[in-house]
Amino acid sequence: MKDKVCLITGATSGIGKATALALASTGATIVIIGRNEEKLKTIMKELQQKTGNQQIDFIIADLSSQKDVHNLVQTFKTRYQKLHVLINNAGLALTKRQVTVDGLEMTLAVNYLSRFLLTNLLIDVLKRSSPARIINVAGAYHAKGEIHFEDINLEHGYTSSRANSQTKLADVLFTYKLARQLEGSKVTVNCLHPGAVRTGSIYKDENTPHYMKFMYKLFSPFFQSPEKGAETTIFLATSPEVDGITGKYFVNKKIKKSAEKTYDTDLQNRLWKISSQLTNLAE
Ligand SMILES: NC(=O)c1ccc[n+]([C@@H]2O[C@H](COP(=O)([O-])OP(=O)(O)OC[C@H]3O[C@@H](n4cnc5c(N)ncnc54)[C@H](OP(=O)(O)O)[C@@H]3O)[C@@H](O)[C@H]2O)c1
Repeated sequence: MKDKVCLITGATSGIGKATALALASTGATIVIIGRNEEKLKTIMKELQQKTGNQQIDFIIADLSSQKDVHNLVQTFKTRYQKLHVLINNAGLALTKRQVTVDGLEMTLAVNYLSRFLLTNLLIDVLKRSSPARIINVAGAYHAKGEIHFEDINLEHGYTSSRANSQTKLADVLFTYKLARQLEGSKVTVNCLHPGAVRTGSIYKDENTPHYMKFMYKLFSPFFQSPEKGAETTIFLATSPEVDGITGKYFVNKKIKKSAEKTYDTDLQNRLWKISSQLTNLAE
């Protein structure tokens, strides 16, 4: 991976940080994306010290802001000519509905729309750098999800689970449609479920009820470590075994069938259309 450039969102904790560390140890150039400068600097130093790889860079971006996503791409393109691996990993889950600076429901904006926008804005660099790989960290709860086209910002009946599963379904639908669009380009795109991973992300939401924190504490010893949770992402980013494989859903480094609805091309197309509108991208 020495001559490769990898960009990882949400690399300041959990699965993203474990992924960044593993990729840094391959000698690749790693660009980590986060919203907190102090955290980014600390992690950059940690990666450099632990791996001896000095080619670690960071770009600050709050992915809930589309302006920040545009600025991040502009900064990336001024610093780098190539991008070989794009890992869309950042995500959150919120007990109470929040709205972004763009007027969008926060989970939708961070977990899905930022990925849609970032990927589309970087597609020219990825094509120029091919073979290149895009990896979307989705989740098994896509199966419970629905795309609420009539109320995509969940102004009515918001729950954390509805918001989260909508975005994870969107991540899978987006992956499959993009894979078709990229046919013949040598840019592959796959998505994955990382497993139930002990990242403690539940504690980041100040509105998480005490009973949920208690349940999390009770069950988290049975969850995987972030390092284990990152294994499928790292496999998809680095392994020659997945050369040329695209438009698939992976669990434990194996191709699995995702929920039936994810293969519905009308649903994929409808989602693409509304995503283009919400991010002001041409269809
Ligand atoms: N953990 C699980 O069991 C599990 C299961 C299925 C899927 N997933 C998916 O795996 C991915 C990683 O989750 P994780 O468990 O590793 O969670 P995590 O430890 O909370 O990491 C999430 C990352 O996303 C970043 N992030 C959140 N909002 C952001 C924003 N507005 N702008 C920029 N960065 C932002 C966080 O930055 P800060 O450090 O600044 O907060 C952090 O680096 C997510 O997409 C999640 O949905 C996780």
